[in-house]
Amino acid sequence: MIMEKIDNADVIAALKKAEKMRIEFVANVSHELRTPLTSIKGYTETLLEDLEEGRPADPEFLKIILKNSNRLLALINDLLDLSAIESGADDLHPVILSLREFTEHALLTLEQNAQKKGSKIEMMIETPVLHADPKRVEQVLTNLIENAVKYCPNQSLITVRWYEEKQLDGRFITLQVSDNGPGIPEKYLDRLFERFYRLDKGRSREMGGTGLGLSIVKHIMQRHNGSVTVESTLGQGTRFYCRFPLDPTLKT
Ligand SMILES: Nc1ncnc2c1ncn2[C@@H]1O[C@H](COP(=O)(O)OP(=O)(O)OP(=O)(O)O)[C@@H](O)[C@H]1O
Ligand SMILES: [Mg+2]
Repeated sequence: MIMEKIDNADVIAALKKAEKMRIEFVANVSHELRTPLTSIKGYTETLLEDLEEGRPADPEFLKIILKNSNRLLALINDLLDLSAIESGADDLHPVILSLREFTEHALLTLEQNAQKKGSKIEMMIETPVLHADPKRVEQVLTNLIENAVKYCPNQSLITVRWYEEKQLDGRFITLQVSDNGPGIPEKYLDRLFERFYRLDKGRSREMGGTGLGLSIVKHIMQRHNGSVTVESTLGQGTRFYCRFPLDPTLKT
């Protein structure tokens, strides 16, 4: 009887937490959508006024409208993707991936962005294959490397490493993405994988970030029955670990 009561209290607490998160999520989404929309509305009104009063339309305004429309679209695409991964509505299509080929291919476009900043991406392939959904693994890799490039200063070094390891809860194929950037203060590490969480909201948004990248990584790893963790030392750099169980019973 007592056990049942405790269980009920736990269930109620979990429901309350879920409800609180849902309310926060709706508030966050609305806020994130409102910012670019307000800008689009304002500049469109100004353009219309200019045209109506015979003034030439300023192309800069159109550029701002386009930039904010792209931002809205990226945000909505990320949200749809996140909800598909989270609900399991998107079927996983796991295949045997050759990690060298796969990583080299994924790095092609990412390397261009790194080069623009004079940064380098190093690749270490210490295990040959992974059984996983290529589209989703590429998203994980891209999100982590894009972050490293974005949040590290020029001339940084980013390392991508694949290896096999044994942990207390089994054997894993692990993807490690490390950088020698500014690092993340310990007090923020827990919250990093929450939706819309950004350390420096203004700066990250300026760089086009929505704060959804790492939550997408987390959910993709969960869908593969794996996990993502982070370690960081201020002034030295950040390291993400994505662990894929070696014998996954993937729900496809
Ligand atoms: N390698 C890193 N070094 C320092 N800070 C980082 C690093 N990776 C992520 N962060 C911090 O974590 C925050 C959350 O990252 P996340 O990828 O979820 O969002 P984002 O990059 O802001 O936006 P998005 O990925 O949706 O474009 C970032 O805003 C940044 O402050
Ligand atoms: Mg990101």
